[in-house]
Amino acid sequence: MKLLIFLALITIAPGEELTSYEASLVHHTWMQIRPAENEILYSIFKDYPVLQNKFPALAYQDLDAIKNTPTFHAHSAPIFAKLDQIFQLHAYQGNEATMTAVLAELAHKHNSRGATKQDFQNYFRGLTKYASTHTYWDADVASAWSKALDNMYAVLVAYLAN
Ligand code: HEM
Repeated sequence: MKLLIFLALITIAPGEELTSYEASLVHHTWMQIRPAENEILYSIFKDYPVLQNKFPALAYQDLDAIKNTPTFHAHSAPIFAKLDQIFQLHAYQGNEATMTAVLAELAHKHNSRGATKQDFQNYFRGLTKYASTHTYWDADVASAWSKALDNMYAVLVAYLAN
């Protein structure tokens, strides 16, 4: 039994831990894009309309018309506050347990909203596209960023139902 619990924990633990250098690159990149939450959400929805359409208050509306409205901001603000919490945890080593708990809760809440593993993958792709085109981006940043998002995704998929 103890072995089974141990194996289950290994399966849902984040992957390879970031070095402190990689963590600082990810944190720096995040801090550069963090204020642009509306722009980022707009860019993600533009590339993946299926994501926009899963938000009942935004579904099937003209994205360019709603982009700068309080309704749009009301949706981007909590998402980016949560992402900020996750990226802040990523900035320092030794936070794996907390990060796993935060991501597990996020996945759990999103199961009832119809968000799938594919949706989260697209969300992260969109986020990466924005970061790579709006910040200093080289091979080291790209590798650290991808490692960080892969770690987050690995925990999310363990708890997402679909
Ligand atoms: C890492 C990416 C994401 C983060 C950090 C995030 C975070 C949040 C947060 C903080 C809320 C507010 C309520 C709560 O505390 O749970 C929320 C609501 C919601 N999220 Fe996410 N989310 C993410 C990705 C997604 C994806 C991929 C989908 C599906 C397309 C989605 C769909 C929704 C929906 C439908 C709501 C309900 C409230 C609303 O309509 O605004 N989220 N999300």
